[in-house]
Amino acid sequence: MAEESNKKNITRDDASGLDRTLRPQTWEEYIGQTKIKENLRILLTAARERGHAAEHVLLYGPPGLGKTTLANLIAKTLGTNMRITSGPAIERVGDLAAILTNLSPGDVLFIDEIHRLSKSIEEVLYPAMESGVLDIIIGKGPSARTVQLELPPFTMVAATTRISLLSSPLRSRFSGGTFRLEFYSDEEIATILKRSAELLKVTTKDEILEHIAKRCRATPRTANYLLKRCRDLAQLEGSDLNTETVTKTFSLLEIDELGLNQPDRAVLEAIIHKFNGGPVGLNTIAAATGEEPSTIEDVIEPYLIRHGLLERTPRGRIASASAYSHIQLIQ
Ligand SMILES: Nc1ncnc2c1ncn2[C@@H]1O[C@H](COP(=O)(O)OP(=O)(O)O)[C@@H](O)[C@H]1O
Ligand SMILES: [Mg+2]
Repeated sequence: MAEESNKKNITRDDASGLDRTLRPQTWEEYIGQTKIKENLRILLTAARERGHAAEHVLLYGPPGLGKTTLANLIAKTLGTNMRITSGPAIERVGDLAAILTNLSPGDVLFIDEIHRLSKSIEEVLYPAMESGVLDIIIGKGPSARTVQLELPPFTMVAATTRISLLSSPLRSRFSGGTFRLEFYSDEEIATILKRSAELLKVTTKDEILEHIAKRCRATPRTANYLLKRCRDLAQLEGSDLNTETVTKTFSLLEIDELGLNQPDRAVLEAIIHKFNGGPVGLNTIAAATGEEPSTIEDVIEPYLIRHGLLERTPRGRIASASAYSHIQLIQ
């Protein structure tokens, strides 16, 4: 019985729960990305004033920079519902047809990981995005015929970590704009963390949050994750969230001064120690580190490149001089 009542008090605290509680609900809470915000404000306000569905928008950039959050804010601003799906979830043309025909006028359709949509689905999507119609082929062989269905007006918001995998016909259908999310400055991350600390009811000093901000690879999701791990340790040790807890948490998670984690360093170390600093191909690095090539490209590389530790050249990846000094320093 005691166990029962104990369970009832357990609230969701997993990654998705965290995302939901900490996810900005208003444009004011959405920090940074000012150019994107301004462009979207104009696009959405104008469409809303005309009483039209806004044009389709494509968002791209590394994971955790705020693409899904932006899609939510777009739907909120338009005052419509958001239907959520993803590239891998749409397997057959029928799946897409079911989603599109069930939209209400003005709805936002969010397609995450759109680079994983198959070619045959893409082709059905073109006329749907462009002219608001769905061409469905009924039957097979000589008796097959095409039926055209009129769709309710809708706004598609798509997100991807890999814009290069999108075909140019698909890209060109995002008439509302294609926006690249940028990594965040330390100050922006510190502002995000301040709000997160309040929501998580963590008491700490600004300088502690600034310290965490320096180690999150300029990524809000990672910043929030680190804050939570620091809070856990502080709770177990019955202390405030102070310099010692933060330092100890980073050392437990093996996060170094640049905010790199073990897989980040493994990539740099492989290039330096096994391939003489490069150039070396992506698949070779993947084989040497045991990471998927897509993980290296989507998750690991973007920050290493932005931080000047890694260079992507036509002949392969090269470790920079600062990568050498960083790896030497921590060994
Ligand atoms: N601009 C931002 N301001 C404040 N918090 C942000 C911002 N962008 C992202 N976050 C935080 O990071 C989390 C992950 O963002 P999300 O939109 O899911 O990233 P993506 O879809 O690009 O992987 C959000 O739940 C939110 O807590
Ligand atoms: Mg997302």
